[in-house]
Amino acid sequence: MRFPDGFVWGVSTSAYQIEGAAAEDGRGPSIWDTFSHAPGRIADGGTGDQACDHYHRHVEDVGLMKGLGVRAYRFSVSWSRVMPDGAGKVNAAGLDFYERLTDELLGQGIAPYATLYHWDLPQALEDRGGWPSRDTAERFADYAAAVHERLGGRVDTWFTINEPWVAAFLGYAAGTHAPGRRSAAEAFRSAHHMLLAHGLAAGALREAGARRIGVALNLSPVLTPGQLGDQDQELTPEDAGAVSRIDALLNRQFLDPMLRGSYPPELLEVVERHAGLDHVRDGDLDLIARPIDVLGVNYYAPHVVQAQPSQPGEPAFPGSEGVLFAATPGPATAMGWPIVPSGLTVLLRRLAADHPGLDLMVTENGADFGDGAHDADRVAFIQAHVRAAHAAISDGVRLRGFLAWTLMDNFEWADGYRRKFGLVHVDFATQRRTERDSARWFREVIARNGLPA
Ligand code: NOJ
Repeated sequence: MRFPDGFVWGVSTSAYQIEGAAAEDGRGPSIWDTFSHAPGRIADGGTGDQACDHYHRHVEDVGLMKGLGVRAYRFSVSWSRVMPDGAGKVNAAGLDFYERLTDELLGQGIAPYATLYHWDLPQALEDRGGWPSRDTAERFADYAAAVHERLGGRVDTWFTINEPWVAAFLGYAAGTHAPGRRSAAEAFRSAHHMLLAHGLAAGALREAGARRIGVALNLSPVLTPGQLGDQDQELTPEDAGAVSRIDALLNRQFLDPMLRGSYPPELLEVVERHAGLDHVRDGDLDLIARPIDVLGVNYYAPHVVQAQPSQPGEPAFPGSEGVLFAATPGPATAMGWPIVPSGLTVLLRRLAADHPGLDLMVTENGADFGDGAHDADRVAFIQAHVRAAHAAISDGVRLRGFLAWTLMDNFEWADGYRRKFGLVHVDFATQRRTERDSARWFREVIARNGLPA
C-alpha cells in the first residue's frame, strides 16, 4: 500500500501541552495557566508549568523527529509568549524561541507548520472579555501578522486556529476547558468570533505573502448506531433530523462559513435561540470565507446519535437538545473513544465531495492507550487510520498528508498527564524520552511511504 509521491508524513503538538517554561523570557499568563492552577480543574492536578520542558529541549525533540524521518512538524505558537498582554507590544524573546525552533527544523530538513491558536488565549484578553468579545478576533489578526513578520521567511504552512468547536464549547459552555465559563450564549459568540479571527488572520497572512494557509478542525461523521454497521441504512425522519442538527453544530458551523460563506440555516436557528444574532455583523461572512489552501482534519472518532424526544437531564452541549449520544458497541481506546477507522474514509470522501478542489490534510490522529512501551494497540489504531486515509486517496480525495497526534506524551488538558498519546514515552520526573513500538512502526511507514503489504 503506497501513498502518492510527496505525501507528507509528520507529527503534531501544541505549545501549552509541551513547552513548559511558563514564566520565562517575558511570557505572559494564558487562560490555561489560570485554569490549570485553579484547584479541581485538572484530573491529576497537573499544569503546563514544566510539561515536556520542550522550551529547553527543542533540539533534542527535533532530533527525535529527524530520527522518525518526518517531513513536517505542526507545532503551535504561544500567543502570550509573543504578546504577553495579548495586544500591543511584541515580546521579541518569545519570537526568538520559535525562530530557534524553526531554524532547527529547517536544518534537519523538516518543514515547520505553524498553528497560531491552540487554545492558550492570553489571560489579559480573557480579562477584557475573551472570545465572546469581538475585539479578540481583531487582536488575533494583529498577533498573526506579528508572528508572520518574524517567521514568514521560514514557515510556509500556517494553520490559524485549532479545533474552534472545542475551544468555544468546552471553554465557554461546558466549562471543562479554560476559561471554564458556562454560558451557551458565550459559546456561540465565541465560535463566531473564532471564525472571524480565522478570516481576519487569513487575510493578514495572505497580504503578507504566506504561501499556504489553512485551519485545523475537529471533524467527525455523525452516524446513528444502525449506520455504524450499515452505511446505507434508511433513517427515520427523527433520526435524520438529529444527525443533521448535530452535523450542523459540530461540523458545518465551521466548514460552511469558511468554505461557503454562509451558516447552515438550521444552525442559525439554534444560535438565535441561545445567543441572538447581534454578534453576527454584515460583511462578517465575506471575511470568514477568505480562500484557504488546505483544510486540516483532526479525526479521532465518529459521533453516534439518536433522536430522543423526551430527553432526561442536560443536553450534551447547547443545541443538542433531544439528541442522545449513544454508547458505541465495539472496541474503544483507553479514553473510551470508539475505534471506527472507516469514519475517516467517510469523512474525507464527504469533504472532497462538498468542497471539490480543496486540499485536505489529516492534521491529527492518534490514541491514548496507556503507558506501555510495547503499544501494539496504538500501532493498530494508527495503522487502521492510515489505511482508511489511503482508501480515500484511492477514490480521488486530495489528501496531502497525515500528521500523527502526537510526538510524545504531554499535558492532555483537563485530563492532565494521565492520558498517553505519544509515539514517544516521556518520564516526567527525568524528562527522559523513549520511543515506543509505535514510533518505530511510524518510522517504517514513512520510510516506505506506505504500509507493508
Ligand atoms: C485534539 C487537540 O487538538 C489536542 O490538543 C488533544 O491533545 C488531542 N485532540 C487529543 O485529545
